[in-house]
Amino acid sequence: LLKFLFFVQELEVIHEIPLYRPFVEKWAQVESFQARPDDLLISTYPKSGTTWISEIVDMIYNNGDEEKCKRDAIFNRVPFMEMSCPGLLSGTEQLDTVPSHRTHLPVQLLPVSFWEQDCKMIYLARNAKDVAVSYYHFYQMAKMHPDPGTWDEFLGKFMAGKVAYGSWYDHVKGWWEKKKAYRILYMFYEDMKKDPKREIEKVLQFLGKDLKEEVVNKILHHTSFQEMKKNPTANYEMMPTWAMDHSVSPFMRKGMSGDWKNYFTVAQNEIFDAHYKEQMKGSTFKCQMEI
Ligand code: A3P
Repeated sequence: LLKFLFFVQELEVIHEIPLYRPFVEKWAQVESFQARPDDLLISTYPKSGTTWISEIVDMIYNNGDEEKCKRDAIFNRVPFMEMSCPGLLSGTEQLDTVPSHRTHLPVQLLPVSFWEQDCKMIYLARNAKDVAVSYYHFYQMAKMHPDPGTWDEFLGKFMAGKVAYGSWYDHVKGWWEKKKAYRILYMFYEDMKKDPKREIEKVLQFLGKDLKEEVVNKILHHTSFQEMKKNPTANYEMMPTWAMDHSVSPFMRKGMSGDWKNYFTVAQNEIFDAHYKEQMKGSTFKCQMEI
């Protein structure tokens, strides 16, 4: 709990947002969660394509059966481990009933049982600039967040790691290091945009699943941006409007790589690039800023 409180306090958000309190109250349950060896964990920094990879995994587990994958909203089919929001099921209440979980936790906060059980994990990273833009819009529509202020203000907070879940740089680097010693399939949003079929096949191989090509094609179709955007069980429209207001910005916003070019000024980009270089110094992590 101390580790968690320290992390949240570092973000300077705990006093600002009463909605974070339920996360703290449920933290003991998250921390003591007993993972099973065959549990799969999906880990991401927010706005990196969590919903996309979760839908792919659910389709794989259900052998490409779209109807089964429409049984419930994605946030109940692949629940968020640390999620706790009054009026909604908390992640820990669903953990025992599902084979796969997702988290935005940085490595140092992941419940130890996942490491002890050597569970398979999929980490999905997305380039920092597109994440910042996507997060800025998400802050506006997902009401558990404070007002993000102007784009320039938000970008400053993002670079300083003063946003929910902290520093993007530490997050991607932390998981990048862990993959050396654990069963982590480290994926990139940009690769999924470029060649989604190849990436789905990587997931299949990682999970030891062999599906017919026609089933893989069905998964590919069902998890395309266009299909997910109109699918209420994937597009978050099943969230109550007090929690997410899609009229401000839809959850399935643009789903593209390189949208940051429409938001970053030349000056912001220069400052960002210099800061990025500094933050990522010494790491072998590489990702594409556009495709
Ligand atoms: P944008 O805001 O850039 O459009 P997360 O699920 O981690 O919150 O990430 C949400 C981001 O992933 C949003 O990015 C969303 O549009 C994008 N996304 C969701 N499903 C997608 C898909 N099938 N293909 C491409 N992008 C997708």
